[in-house]
Amino acid sequence: MTRRPSQEELLDDFAAHVSPQKVAGYRLIGWDFIPGRREGVRVWDWEDKRSWIDCRTAGGVFNLGHRPPAIIEALKRGLEEADMGDHMLASGYRARLAKRLAELTPGDLQYTTFGASGGEAIDFAIKLARGYTGRSGVVSAVKGYHGHTGLALAATDEYGERWGPLAPGFRRVPFGDFAALSAAVDDNTAAVIMETIPATAGFTIPPDDWYPRIRKLCDERGVIMILDEVQAGLGRTGRLWAYEEWGVVPDIMVLGKGMSAATYPLSSATYRRPLQSFFDADAFAHLSSAGGSDLACITGLAMLDIISRPPFLQHVREMGDRFAAGFAGLREKHPAILKGWNQRGLMIGLIFANADCGPRLSRALAKRGVIAVFSGFNRHILQLMPPLIIQPEEVDEVLDALDGAIAEVGQDLSLT
Ligand SMILES: Cc1ncc(COP(=O)(O)O)c(C=O)c1O
Repeated sequence: MTRRPSQEELLDDFAAHVSPQKVAGYRLIGWDFIPGRREGVRVWDWEDKRSWIDCRTAGGVFNLGHRPPAIIEALKRGLEEADMGDHMLASGYRARLAKRLAELTPGDLQYTTFGASGGEAIDFAIKLARGYTGRSGVVSAVKGYHGHTGLALAATDEYGERWGPLAPGFRRVPFGDFAALSAAVDDNTAAVIMETIPATAGFTIPPDDWYPRIRKLCDERGVIMILDEVQAGLGRTGRLWAYEEWGVVPDIMVLGKGMSAATYPLSSATYRRPLQSFFDADAFAHLSSAGGSDLACITGLAMLDIISRPPFLQHVREMGDRFAAGFAGLREKHPAILKGWNQRGLMIGLIFANADCGPRLSRALAKRGVIAVFSGFNRHILQLMPPLIIQPEEVDEVLDALDGAIAEVGQDLSLT
């Protein structure tokens, strides 16, 4: 029998063959473990000695927690009858999932093209907007994040610039600044693309009229409105789709992460009926071998059945309220360091006094059994994205850990 390697050996292998830089970073932030057992809201280390509540969830991949039993069952049943499927052929699994997405979305969002990653679905959405309008310009947001693939990277802030030249035709405007946005739209604009609630920026909540005004502008100027719900969609905000809050319907809605149901990669771009003419000249104008694989559609459908139930969404809102009540107490106790929070349901960005706070809080929380990451584009914000299935006593456990972590970081930074 081969010996099970130790956690340190695996970390060394990871450093030697995947990324020494990442391992150095993990050590700094207190994440120098190899995930082993995982179940529900928790992840254990390789040696089963320590556990953490996962408040990162890989940005919503683990909306249903780790190894959700209903999804594991669906996948096992799926493996009895299916495999990845051939993406060039028709698929009953893809048909059923696309139909369900059409039923669950408002307006005439009707057709879905699937991918395997969020970036891939964003690339397709931009391609679709360009093909449909015959224009090339794309307007996105400063501090927006849409992935690391070609067109998605060009729409993303900061990362792209490091490895230019990027795809041409992209402009960025401050999120929430409608005057800047309307000035950036011209006769060659194909699409406006926004994360409905920008995640890497720290879950910025837009002004109330932001999306209604974008919708109106897009209608007037023949521009395609793309909403990236890769993190904000699928029940995260306590609504099935985050944009419902603003009473708008995008032309294209992009989903990823949580579509995997924690088990099988899947992303999607669901779009309004008229846009289907993009495929009139060539039904195979977009292809993805792993996109919308049969097994992913099986788990994706099982996931949608769970999260679209009204009591499930009600639970998300209740847990969000429980967190909010806890944050109010924490702000009263630690006013010099905790300045406020951005929140919709279980999409939470805690706002701290300065940019040193985020990384230090990630570390202080890891010591106390919680995994949470600071916002990449705004390090004074700590993201909390717990599994949507989190229970009241687990919310309290996270709040207790936060209390201790905030006190420790406040003391270290003399912010008391
Ligand atoms: C809002 C948003 N859009 C798109 C993506 C890209 O998804 P993926 O990493 O699956 O390509 C991400 C990933 O973090 C994201 O947060």
